[in-house]
Amino acid sequence: MTIQAVRGTRDILPDEVGGWHRVEAAARELFARYGYRELRTPVFEQTELFARGIGADTDIVSKEMYTFADRDFSSLTLRPEATAGIVRAVIEHNLMNTDPALRVYAIGPMFRRERPQKGRYRQFHQVDVEAFGFTSPTIDAEVVELALAFLDACGVKQRDLVLNSVGDSTCRPAYVERLQKALRELAPSLCGDCQRRVETNPLRVLDCKVPQDQAAIDTLPRITDHLCAPCGDHFAEVRRQLELLGIPYRLSHRLVRGLDYYVRTTFEVTSSALGAQSSILGGGRYDGLVKDLGGPDLAGIGFAVGLERLVSLVPSGEAEPRCDVFLMPLAAGALDPALRLQRRLRAAGLRVLLDPEGRSVKSRMKQADKLGARFAAILGDDELGRHDKLGARVWTLRDMAQSTQDLVDEDAIVEHIKGRLNG
Ligand code: HAM
Repeated sequence: MTIQAVRGTRDILPDEVGGWHRVEAAARELFARYGYRELRTPVFEQTELFARGIGADTDIVSKEMYTFADRDFSSLTLRPEATAGIVRAVIEHNLMNTDPALRVYAIGPMFRRERPQKGRYRQFHQVDVEAFGFTSPTIDAEVVELALAFLDACGVKQRDLVLNSVGDSTCRPAYVERLQKALRELAPSLCGDCQRRVETNPLRVLDCKVPQDQAAIDTLPRITDHLCAPCGDHFAEVRRQLELLGIPYRLSHRLVRGLDYYVRTTFEVTSSALGAQSSILGGGRYDGLVKDLGGPDLAGIGFAVGLERLVSLVPSGEAEPRCDVFLMPLAAGALDPALRLQRRLRAAGLRVLLDPEGRSVKSRMKQADKLGARFAAILGDDELGRHDKLGARVWTLRDMAQSTQDLVDEDAIVEHIKGRLNG
């Protein structure tokens, strides 16, 4: 039996990879304009980092992590998200002491053992953005604006920004108590998962998607009605600045997100073009996380974009040209000059291919055509004969796009081709 990719993982094939390159290039270019620099962290970390960082009662930690014992019996986990690892790296390298504007981004694979379906994978990729050390609502608005600017740069037009505040350690505990009280009364009518959440993590009930539970959930107390004054003011200022920047949003008091580290602002961008897994990106503020993981009392805020979902929305665009010149050493003795020319053209920045199998002229022409080669460079008996007579090597250069042919001196080939490509 042939071996197949593991369920929930997928290959990104050469024909698809252009879209990935485009969004990654857009990320690098745009984030640099906002002062973000790339940080690369390992794909596996000590399990404790995620248990403490994301929260032991979250679905991610309790059900979805790829955790394994190393040979020394320490427990390791493939990262289910990027934030916890980035926070660990910030603390470990004291980045807040050396970087006066600590803004970083990361791009890479994440792993969650979720039930696979369209847009949901067990290995997926994120572009993740984090800013540290800013408590002002101005950074919340800037980070949200950056998230949308990134989608703009990728050509994603159909999208909705959803915004909420989940309060902080001053106001949330009292709200959660109220919520739990209300939930205990409703519990018998809720789904099994929610009945469990009433006791383990009542906020998660607000995330429930089970249709029969929705009417009951709508009657629950709302966090935004129970924010303390500083959280209320912070949220009002974030919204004011988004309005100032002309960014439309929808409020949802049920946007609590699947990770426990959030305080105050949370946000998500969804797209109706995505189907059931409609969330393109999600993020929020996590002011206590750096301290909880053993670092200083440093504020943090960020978001992560799901790349599989983003790439599926990106217009396909022009494919990158595969081949500028296809070399055809046809005569006996033509291979050596072709190998030298190939090296020279590639060094000049051209995309060059040669059929090393030495097939018939007809099949080589077909191949050049299929590869979308702009030029075929032919060295046959005629061209070699001229060389013997004149001392200068000439090639027949066929412009496949214009169906014209020229005899070109080897030393002039680069100039000739570049002139046509740019002309
Ligand atoms: P998250 O909402 O868990 O947040 O994930 C962010 C995005 O990753 C989602 O909106 C979705 O596009 C994508 N995603 C998540 N799970 C899957 C999956 N199984 N298959 C495909 N795509 C998926 C976080 O991960 C936070 N760390 C974001 C953040 C950064 N908050 C603050 N800083």
